[in-house]
Amino acid sequence: MASKLTFDTDWTYAPAPEGTANVKLEKRYGLFINGRFTEPKSGKYFRTISPSTEKKLADVADAGPDDVDRAVKAARRAYDTVWSKMKPSERGKYIFRIARIVQERSREFAVIESMDGGKPIRESRDVDVPLAAAHFFYYAGWADKLDYAFPGKSPRALGVAGQVIPWNFPLLMAAWKIAPALATGNTVVLKPAETTPLTALKLAEVIAEADLPPGVVNIVTGAGETGAALVNHPGINKIAFTGSTAVGKKIQSDLAGTGKKFTLELGGKAANIVFEDAPIDQAVEGIINAIFFNQGHVCCAGSRLLVQESIATSLVQKLKDRMETLIVGDPLDKNTDVGAINSRMQLKKIEYYLKLGREEGADMYQPACTLPEKGFWCRPTLFDHASQSHRIVQEEIFGPVLTIQTFRTAEEAIEKANNTPFGLSGGVWTDKGAKIFEMTSRLRAGVIWANTFNKFDPGSPFGGYKESGLGREGGMHGLLPYLSLN
Ligand code: NAI
Ligand code: MG
Repeated sequence: MASKLTFDTDWTYAPAPEGTANVKLEKRYGLFINGRFTEPKSGKYFRTISPSTEKKLADVADAGPDDVDRAVKAARRAYDTVWSKMKPSERGKYIFRIARIVQERSREFAVIESMDGGKPIRESRDVDVPLAAAHFFYYAGWADKLDYAFPGKSPRALGVAGQVIPWNFPLLMAAWKIAPALATGNTVVLKPAETTPLTALKLAEVIAEADLPPGVVNIVTGAGETGAALVNHPGINKIAFTGSTAVGKKIQSDLAGTGKKFTLELGGKAANIVFEDAPIDQAVEGIINAIFFNQGHVCCAGSRLLVQESIATSLVQKLKDRMETLIVGDPLDKNTDVGAINSRMQLKKIEYYLKLGREEGADMYQPACTLPEKGFWCRPTLFDHASQSHRIVQEEIFGPVLTIQTFRTAEEAIEKANNTPFGLSGGVWTDKGAKIFEMTSRLRAGVIWANTFNKFDPGSPFGGYKESGLGREGGMHGLLPYLSLN
């Protein structure tokens, strides 16, 4: 038998902080309406902080109903007078221009994303920002090809799209929303999340720099009330929402009977299923990535591990050993694997589930890492011997918390994987192609990865079953929610 790996815990990496010199933040941001920043009519501002230092980064306007109304009217004017009349190939050029400027300013975007939201710079630099640019590039290419996407139909824009996004991928979610809306000829009012508004405001600068006609994209900041004012504004034709299932349900009931088209991308509780014939070391890396990537603030995170009983003990030991080596701390340090929890509120929610998991009788394990004194932090955590009926198995925690259950047969794995209210994503690890096809066709989830996890591409559709939402974003599928085909 192989001897157990031991790690010299005295050994540490030297800090490798990313520079912040190229980051220019205003002290105060207004609302981006009709092509320029304006003071909010509400007169109100709120602060956005860095969750790793708790220091204020900027004050941001809190848009009231009058401000939302101004933004929607600007978007309508731009739609009626310019955007709906423009040749699709010209529209495409503007979107390409946004893509290129985001790429040029990628370092600045990455640093601000890590400062405002707490995610490790390696991720914002290598995942969030390149994928955001890729989305603009991808949809720019569709702008003049809609007739080919829907042969025999006459695709037409809907008008003004209202878009509300969360704090886990602030710039990327803005790109997911804005790029297809513009490509299909709609104009936009977007509301970023209240804890992470800064990269959306920087994107507003890019949009101005790209010389988009005023009013085509408007960005209004604020919290839930601002989002609700946008959703319920009568001048909106389509709502795109990503966030919690609770708010998604409320929006769906608000929209009932209004004729507004909508897509909802909500929570998840993905099963990551590992068979005994899987490449185990690769699977360990995959499991770690699936749940600790971005502090588990990922709707499609692999938060439930289902492992075949025969390999459970050795796999769990390998996971624990690997967790000991994870570096938790300063998001701007290039060594960091796990950054800060996005907000005090989210940390409280995660801590509630850590307590609950112990009360429910699962075995909690956390590595011995030291946490910074200031800021919001949570050790990577696993709960071994969890049961299907545990709330930590059934509910979305949205933090770096993995539950572990075992199974004997593929049948049992499918049964357990499908038995939650969600159905956003999943993972299968096995050496056998036939098993992959069998599992992926029977798992009720929108995205399923095989022998990998958390891979994204603008050409690939994304969205959920059941309480994970309605509609698809990304790829050719992502065009349809912004079009009428009659
Ligand atoms: P949330 O759903 O309240 O926030 C998402 C966005 O919706 C934000 O921009 C927010 O300002 C806006 N919003 C809030 N109430 C609204 C309303 N009534 N009408 C329109 N817009 C509204 O999510 P929150 O409170 O930040 O996080 C709570 C939990 O939601 C998390 O713990 C996590 O479990 C889950 N979550 C899931 C996400 C996902 O992508 N699946 C993303 C963020 C949170
Ligand atoms: Mg912040």
